[in-house]
Amino acid sequence: MLFKTTDTHEEIRKKVREFAETEVKPIAFMLDQNNEFPTEVIKKFAEMGMMGIPYPKEYGGAGLDTLSYAIAVEELSRVDGGTGVILSAHVSLGTYPIYAFGTEEQKKKYLIPLAKGEKLGAFGLTEPNAGSDAGGTETTAELQGDYYILNGGKIFITNADKADTYVVFASTDKELGTKGISAFIVEKGWEGFTFGDHYDKMGIRSSSTAELIFNNVKVPKENLLGKEGQGFKIAMATLDGGRIGIASQALGIAQGAFENAVEYAKERVQFGKPIAFQQVISFKLADMATKIRAARFLVYSSAELKDNHEPFGMESAMAKQYASDICLEVVNDALQIFGGNGYLKGMEVERAYRDAKICTIYEGTNEIQRVVIASHIIGKMPR
Ligand code: CAA
Repeated sequence: MLFKTTDTHEEIRKKVREFAETEVKPIAFMLDQNNEFPTEVIKKFAEMGMMGIPYPKEYGGAGLDTLSYAIAVEELSRVDGGTGVILSAHVSLGTYPIYAFGTEEQKKKYLIPLAKGEKLGAFGLTEPNAGSDAGGTETTAELQGDYYILNGGKIFITNADKADTYVVFASTDKELGTKGISAFIVEKGWEGFTFGDHYDKMGIRSSSTAELIFNNVKVPKENLLGKEGQGFKIAMATLDGGRIGIASQALGIAQGAFENAVEYAKERVQFGKPIAFQQVISFKLADMATKIRAARFLVYSSAELKDNHEPFGMESAMAKQYASDICLEVVNDALQIFGGNGYLKGMEVERAYRDAKICTIYEGTNEIQRVVIASHIIGKMPR
């Protein structure tokens, strides 16, 4: 495996960085303070053709690759982790399962507007009693005539009330456990489909997170995604790719905090010289840079494996786990370098510190990533 970015990748980085600097950065603090979704920003990003980066042009996408998408999430997250995850949840979670498992009709109806960014996607897997143990799904879908009747609810759903199209997992046969879980495409506005409260989160406050509530929602039979009982595998395969998105988000948050810390350390004078030239600070910066570089190799190489159609589930779990673990360390060191100034509201490093934490929790906690990595190495325990 050879990892290398091309000129096209670096053009994407430049384009997204410019967009992030001019359209997102100036309002990021306001979005954070107000817990506000950047509707106009996402609309503009969609107009630039960036909401379907890795999907083929024939389906409304940009016809680029996973690595380009990872770079876009990284660059948005470099200025605002919340905006980064809106793209990640839309591309990796809301859109990918339709691209990978949808029928031609489902792709025409749902994938094209999602990839064009005319519609926003979301992914409904997590429930109050089925978080890390995703196989414990309690939401049910019962076939009655031409419809599945969906009952239950999902929690912690990114893009929730702002999305239009949802991939929702429900049990069609409780007796079968994970093999009785099926996936469905659900539209906003269907009778019985409502939202709970918008969560008041610690970080990534520009992204919208809420509950999905299903009360006898009639899902047309043709909106079954894949086959009955295939849902758990669809969810797992989707999360393999989703973890590249979260790893990229963590990488971007770390990179942004690092750059801010370098700039500040070069300006801040104590004991007669910039603190960057105090060894205790320069060594911190050196360690931060090394961790970020190692994380970037893990993230980009897992994207490259996916693009080359090689197995990447272990590598994306490693990338997600490592990038988010080091992201916490890097933002902590960055805030330490800023001292008391970094602890103040309105400082980017303060927001990065809060945004970083979720990366070790969602799309599979880092403990679950280690379960996934270990199972690739040692297999399952013999029964
Ligand atoms: N791809 C395809 N199939 C897979 C797979 C994968 N990556 N991983 C497992 N499977 C298959 C297995 O092969 C197995 O199939 P067979 O029975 O035919 O062999 C089946 O799925 C069940 O696998 P396991 O026995 O390994 O399943 P498990 O119940 O032990 O769970 C787990 C495994 C890895 C812990 C899984 O439950 C998991 O990933 N949990 C974390 C869930 C998660 O990440 N949630 C995040 C929600 S989304 C979110 O956070 C989004 C957001 O807001 C941004």
